Amino acid sequence: MILDGKALSKKILDEIKVEVTKLDKKPHLAVILVGNDPASRIYVNNKKKTALNIGINSTVIELPEDTKEEVLIEHIKKLNNDDTVTGILVQMPLPKHINKDNVVCAIDPKKDVDCFTPENVGKLSLGMKPYFYPVTPQGILIMLDYYKIPIEGQHVVVIGRSNIVGKPMVQMLLQRNATVTVCHSHTKNLDDIIKTADIIISAVGKKVVRCKMVKYKSVLVDVGISRDTNGKLTGDLNFSDFKDINEILDFVEAFSPVPGGVGPMTIASLMLNTLLIEHTGILSRIAKSGLE
Ligand code: GUN
Repeated sequence: MILDGKALSKKILDEIKVEVTKLDKKPHLAVILVGNDPASRIYVNNKKKTALNIGINSTVIELPEDTKEEVLIEHIKKLNNDDTVTGILVQMPLPKHINKDNVVCAIDPKKDVDCFTPENVGKLSLGMKPYFYPVTPQGILIMLDYYKIPIEGQHVVVIGRSNIVGKPMVQMLLQRNATVTVCHSHTKNLDDIIKTADIIISAVGKKVVRCKMVKYKSVLVDVGISRDTNGKLTGDLNFSDFKDINEILDFVEAFSPVPGGVGPMTIASLMLNTLLIEHTGILSRIAKSGLE
């Protein structure tokens, strides 16, 4: 089975669009982009375009590469105090001269749609309800739930320990009663560990998972994005040992493609957060209707 994040994301966005028309106060996502990183610019434009398409207001504040930390924090404080702004996202990475911890700490936790602030991350790790769940892990769980992939009691191997994906993914999986192993750049014998996984979630940005090495009928979730030698977008899963797609689909239970898997789910998940209302209604409606 292919985990079609693109199609599922579209369904969620269509539902959000309907939901937004019922609101008196439109959600408003403010995004701050500092510097000239081309990939970040593409991500930010995608977020803005998606928001506007579904009736969510979006403002992008673009600041030059040499912006002082204090100036960036002033912008954040203004957005914190602006009642028309419901969500604030500071695109990462920031230029090296800016201390990202100071920046993250300046965001109002009630507008922290990324779940980056210590208050929200702390709540997540204590098993309390944060104001928002982190977008990529939330998007992955929505996708696994949609495709009825069980999580409770499963051995999930998370590869990568970033604050954006790996660490919050672990917390959310523990909350769902999975058995979790975290692997990273210093892990020995990665191939031995991935053989024991029921589900592998890889967020590295390099071809680290040789899919012929995984357990038969495991589920593979690819969060990595990089470019291959031809400049084509590719993920962490290395399927080069397989003859063709049919052989892959016979061997694994499910996998998420790059592009068209976790990426679109992350955007849909961000929009769910920006909607600010409990979105369980939307998700259960989608679960019942299935993918056309
Ligand atoms: N850079 C890469 N992914 C993300 C994300 O999810 N949020 C933010 N703020 N920056 C990112």
